[in-house]
Amino acid sequence: MNDGRVSEFRLNGAPVRVRDDHPHLLAALREELGVVSPKDGCSPSGQCGCCTVMVDGKAVVSCNLSLTKVEGAEITTLEGFDDATRDRMARAFAATGALQCGFCTPGIVVRVASLLEKKGAGLDRDTAARHLGAHLCRCTGYVKILDAVELLAKGEEPQPTPLGGVGTSGTRYQGLELAVGDKHYVDDLRVDGMLHAALHLTAHARADIVAIDTTEAAAVPGVVGVFTAADIPGTLRVGLIHKDWPVMIPVGGRTSYLGDVLAVVVAEDRETARRAATLVEVDYAPLTPITDPAFAVDGADDAVWGLDGNVLSRSVYARGDADAELAACARVVHEEFQTQRIEHAFLEPESTLAVPLPDGRMHVYSGGQGVWDDRDQICAMLDIDPSLVTVELVSNGGAFGGKEDMSNQGQTALAAWLLGRPVKCTLTREQSFLMHAKRHPVHISLTVGCDENGNLRALRARMLGDSGPYASVGMKVLERAAGHACGPYRIPNVDVEAVAARTNNPVCGAFRGFGANQAQFAMEGALDRLAAELGISGWEIRLRNVVDPGDVWGPGQIMDDGCRGARRCLEAVKPAYDAAQAAGKAVGLGLGLKNSGLGNGFLEISRAVVRLEDDGTVEVRHCWTEMGQGVHTVAAQVAVEELGVDPANVRVVVDTTRELGAGQTTGSRGTLMGAGAVADACRVAKEGGCRTGIDYLGEYRVDWTRSMDSDDEHPTIHSAFGYAAQLVVIDRDSGGIERVVAAHDVGRAVNPALCENQVEGAVHMGLGYALSEDFPTDTEGRPTVTTLRGLGILRAKDVPAIDVILVEEPQPRAPYGIKGVGEIGLVPTAGAVAAALHDLDGEWRATLPMRRETRSP
Ligand code: FES
Ligand code: FES
Repeated sequence: MNDGRVSEFRLNGAPVRVRDDHPHLLAALREELGVVSPKDGCSPSGQCGCCTVMVDGKAVVSCNLSLTKVEGAEITTLEGFDDATRDRMARAFAATGALQCGFCTPGIVVRVASLLEKKGAGLDRDTAARHLGAHLCRCTGYVKILDAVELLAKGEEPQPTPLGGVGTSGTRYQGLELAVGDKHYVDDLRVDGMLHAALHLTAHARADIVAIDTTEAAAVPGVVGVFTAADIPGTLRVGLIHKDWPVMIPVGGRTSYLGDVLAVVVAEDRETARRAATLVEVDYAPLTPITDPAFAVDGADDAVWGLDGNVLSRSVYARGDADAELAACARVVHEEFQTQRIEHAFLEPESTLAVPLPDGRMHVYSGGQGVWDDRDQICAMLDIDPSLVTVELVSNGGAFGGKEDMSNQGQTALAAWLLGRPVKCTLTREQSFLMHAKRHPVHISLTVGCDENGNLRALRARMLGDSGPYASVGMKVLERAAGHACGPYRIPNVDVEAVAARTNNPVCGAFRGFGANQAQFAMEGALDRLAAELGISGWEIRLRNVVDPGDVWGPGQIMDDGCRGARRCLEAVKPAYDAAQAAGKAVGLGLGLKNSGLGNGFLEISRAVVRLEDDGTVEVRHCWTEMGQGVHTVAAQVAVEELGVDPANVRVVVDTTRELGAGQTTGSRGTLMGAGAVADACRVAKEGGCRTGIDYLGEYRVDWTRSMDSDDEHPTIHSAFGYAAQLVVIDRDSGGIERVVAAHDVGRAVNPALCENQVEGAVHMGLGYALSEDFPTDTEGRPTVTTLRGLGILRAKDVPAIDVILVEEPQPRAPYGIKGVGEIGLVPTAGAVAAALHDLDGEWRATLPMRRETRSP
């Protein structure tokens, strides 16, 4: 505890005194002074740039700056910028679409303001990109951030465009607030009497827990409680589909990966909680972790405590006779593909605030992707009725699928419930890496054959995904990989099996693309090998095989008119493809599809409420998580379209107090289903005369998909697909990727500017997936990468030019023809990069990442 010593500096023009025991300046700003525009994405490693502030006129990250170093210094945060500068920066970033989730943005705005002051009109795009090397943005791909900088340097004043109806490019809802850090995330919230929690994670991926001693932790001054699994009154295990994930591992239990929690420590302040959490003593009996998925599947030893067998799921289907047809094909290629594990690296680490209420209920603030699932799991753990807990969604700082499962919601809610006091818990970056589910590494053994004209005849695929210990949605990811094994192609004979293995490696689950990326990296690779054998271009072989309406696809689905988008995307990139070849560039092409929605027989229902108020405002209540993808903006635009109201009067609210719940915001379905529900609520409102003070409830449902396993010969496993063709152009002299042309069929672009930005961000992520990103583990199941820098995420200077072409081939039966854009964005990228690299050096690649130098020439 602090003994009264203080540090002094000036903050935004005024002298301040803070305790001198904060670990860094950022902690003093956020935790003691309540200055929350600098965000904490990775403290104390200084690798994301979110915490950037001005120190004596210089932009620096504040999370690795000791208070001794800033003694007497002048610190300026966005709160202290003059109004004109704040306003100008906010308008420029919002107007150009330079932000999505916004978590990285305040830090970048500080950096850009500092650069502009120093370099003025001399600040060009390349210089800015180099200086942004200290910053990560996982959402935007940096393209529009650099657009904003260029305009500002030229002295231009880009102005936000008011939101309009469907199909217009208005500025993101709440874009101005996001730009300058005025929009709060969970960790920015403070309530009276709030305590702080920290987790103690296991030291071994697989070990029996002999004893847990919390005495020393509990004795630390400032600690008010230490809880273990023994304190959980209800169910120990939770989970989205299988209830197999322990909230904490009890004495007598066994750990199954390094993200397992053994204790939660609650204290008056965060640092005390974190320090005390390290003092929990655990007596382990370590066991050898099972880390090889092939070994796990064949072995007799169970990887996961309390569960039988290591096969989480097996997804199988066949049409025709693939083996016989392969034997008769004119050309056959076989390849063993291996993809890697990937960390989401959303910039906002997981945070939860649980607040017990005077009436005996509890209010939980969560940044999760499925707040109703959070509520149900919390209540099962506490053994209380779901009516006693409300989980309020706080728009998060990125998720990409990694915030579907509960992370620290359970432990935080438990502590708050038992103590009867508000408790907040925010994971460190290291804990975030360890706990949440990743993208699956998948081994794919693929054989594909075609006739002498390059028409695909047969495919045989065997996939093995390392799912880690707990189910999460791992079985669905491998099911989706199986379903998408054929890519967007017509193949009459298929034989597919995808197995999800349980191991003691990190849990794997949802991540943008959801199995389609892995499967189509392999399929695109096989297609390019066949094209090379036949002496035809990558573009030509795709054109000959792309699905058309009426074709049978994948597990047997008959494609509808929406699939014309695939051919249109291919045609859209043809001019650039021809031009790049004519210019002597190395080129690679990828074509992909990705379902929108859950499909596979799930009944999907989305509800929304529209309410007109006496003051002329319109409240739109929906149920989807805003995580930067723009679902709030979509909801507002639909209300403007349908009701003809002034967009300035539309207020969008995620409502968790009513039963609007539609499950996880996943599978590119928020826009599609959210728009459908809001449109229906508007229809009901119009039919009801648009009277004020009335909740007009609307609904959109998808109830016509079928399971892949159904007896139906032609099951419609998905209601909609997005399609994309991506062209990667490499300069032969430098070997660097100089351009990506991305043609995306989104069905209908509700907001074309937001769509374009989604695609740019996805291409950035896809290039990282293809080239440099990885999250490996050792034989103990321990990640060998522990920092953001080690993940291999591309920085601003490494991102090539990205040309987005939006294609709008409407999806039958979908509201406005929407198909969704979030997930398809990076499905074709890795295949296109592999083909371009092959064109460059003649080498086929089958393993990700391909680790090529990515700097633009
Ligand atoms: S929080 Fe300081 S650089 Fe990431
Ligand atoms: S907008 Fe940059 S991380 Fe989300």
